[in-house]
Amino acid sequence: MVCLATPLLLSSAFTAVSAYIQYSTVTGYFLQDDNSTNATTFDYTATNFGLINQSYPTDPSNAASLTQWQRFALVIANLTKSAPSNVQFKLLFMGRHGEGWHNAAESYYGTPAWNCYWSLLDGNATATWSDAHLTNNGIAQALVANKFWLSRIQEQKIPTPQKYYVSPLYRCLSTANLTFSGLPLPPNEPFIPTVKALLRESISEHTCDRRSNKTYIHSQFPTYKFEPGFPETDQLWTGVTAETNSAQDARSKTLLDNIFSTDDSTYLSFTSHSGEIGSILRVLGHRTFSLNTGAVIPVLVKAQKVAGLSTISTQAWTPSPHCTVPPVTSVSTGTNGGCVCPNSAAPVTTTLPPFAVST
Ligand SMILES: *[C@@H]1O[C@H](CO)[C@@H](O)[C@H](O)[C@H]1NC(C)=O
Ligand SMILES: *[C@@H]1O[C@H](CO)[C@@H](O)[C@H](O)[C@H]1NC(C)=O
Ligand SMILES: *[C@@H]1O[C@H](CO)[C@@H](O)[C@H](O)[C@H]1NC(C)=O
Ligand SMILES: *[C@@H]1O[C@H](CO)[C@@H](O)[C@H](O)[C@H]1NC(C)=O
Ligand SMILES: *[C@@H]1O[C@H](CO)[C@@H](O)[C@H](O)[C@H]1NC(C)=O
Ligand SMILES: *[C@@H]1O[C@H](CO)[C@@H](O)[C@H](O)[C@H]1NC(C)=O
Ligand SMILES: *[C@@H]1O[C@H](CO)[C@@H](O)[C@H](O)[C@H]1NC(C)=O
Repeated sequence: MVCLATPLLLSSAFTAVSAYIQYSTVTGYFLQDDNSTNATTFDYTATNFGLINQSYPTDPSNAASLTQWQRFALVIANLTKSAPSNVQFKLLFMGRHGEGWHNAAESYYGTPAWNCYWSLLDGNATATWSDAHLTNNGIAQALVANKFWLSRIQEQKIPTPQKYYVSPLYRCLSTANLTFSGLPLPPNEPFIPTVKALLRESISEHTCDRRSNKTYIHSQFPTYKFEPGFPETDQLWTGVTAETNSAQDARSKTLLDNIFSTDDSTYLSFTSHSGEIGSILRVLGHRTFSLNTGAVIPVLVKAQKVAGLSTISTQAWTPSPHCTVPPVTSVSTGTNGGCVCPNSAAPVTTTLPPFAVST
């Protein structure tokens, strides 16, 4: 167990006191907050992003001529205006990337064989999934999101994101590009996303979780900005151990603390991953809600700065067992995580795999 204290310094006239940001999800506005909504079958495009049809105490007298999203924007404006100075509200639109070649490969080989062998390779004879690109299906999913945003802007006058943040992995860089291209966005809030190192997927030994270098990302997405200090090469992926859930949640909280302390806009877009959005939802106290590839979830967040020190207990990263040759079975659980290698090859748990990439 490692204990990470994550203090923020609040300066005052006399002394510096430590404080931290406490997050919660404001429920009652979105179907996704409701326990009875099934994430597996939920379609954000069939439900106005999940915004529940209702009237609000803040509805103005001309409410009948306003859309649900316009009236919800008034709710948020009211919350923001009424909030004490240590509280802020933000609406996060979190989008999962469309299907990538690694997703296709996991379906093709089955999850156990994928986890214990294929995921550690850069690809097979016909597909590459190291920092995977989108499949045609994934591109189509991102275009569905694009078309849906356009319809929300035109029909609902939805507030569009004021700032865009994107994971450094190719599938997200690409999804964001397709999702927000060609939209009638406000000229002062254009789609110029910031690449955030910590918005990446859960860092496993899989090559799909290893990012490309900054030079390459810039060459592919020249209009994107990088957050200050974004390293040229991937400093986090090891290929030997995998980030634990608690370590990932500590990382997600660091990411949120950074964004909530530096960005005072209300509507934000995150383009990220299923595992990472799951972790952010845990930090936000949102119910579990697994996104399908290409899906988007809005979350109304209350962030409150409170005095004291927040301590997050994190488990050290651990190696995952794997085979050095294709596995013989596809059991999903059991010893070594269901990784059953041929007789000649016991599961490897600690040594660097022979196909690991140089640093
Ligand atoms: C939703 O489910 C969680 C966990 O099962 C439970 O703690 C919570 O009270 C439920 N919320 C509602 C509104 O039913
Ligand atoms: C959600 O829907 C899926 C697919 O129809 C189904 O298999 C699953 O049991 C449902 N989950 C719940 C909690 O109802
Ligand atoms: C709200 O009502 C409209 C039609 O008035 C419908 O199209 C939409 O799906 C409803 N949204 C939800 C979340 O039920
Ligand atoms: C927020 O809305 C409530 C009604 O729900 C109202 O009493 C209050 O004055 C509003 N606050 C602001 C700052 O508009
Ligand atoms: C390689 O993996 C992809 C899925 O990513 C699959 O569609 C393809 O058939 C595989 N190629 C071979 C030669 O097995
Ligand atoms: C998306 O990428 C294409 C190809 O690089 C580029 O021409 C276009 O400007 C990008 N769109 C956005 C919104 O970044
Ligand atoms: C950056 O990545 C690209 C694409 O993978 C590669 O061709 C290039 O050599 C890398 N640059 C450096 C400095 O490693």
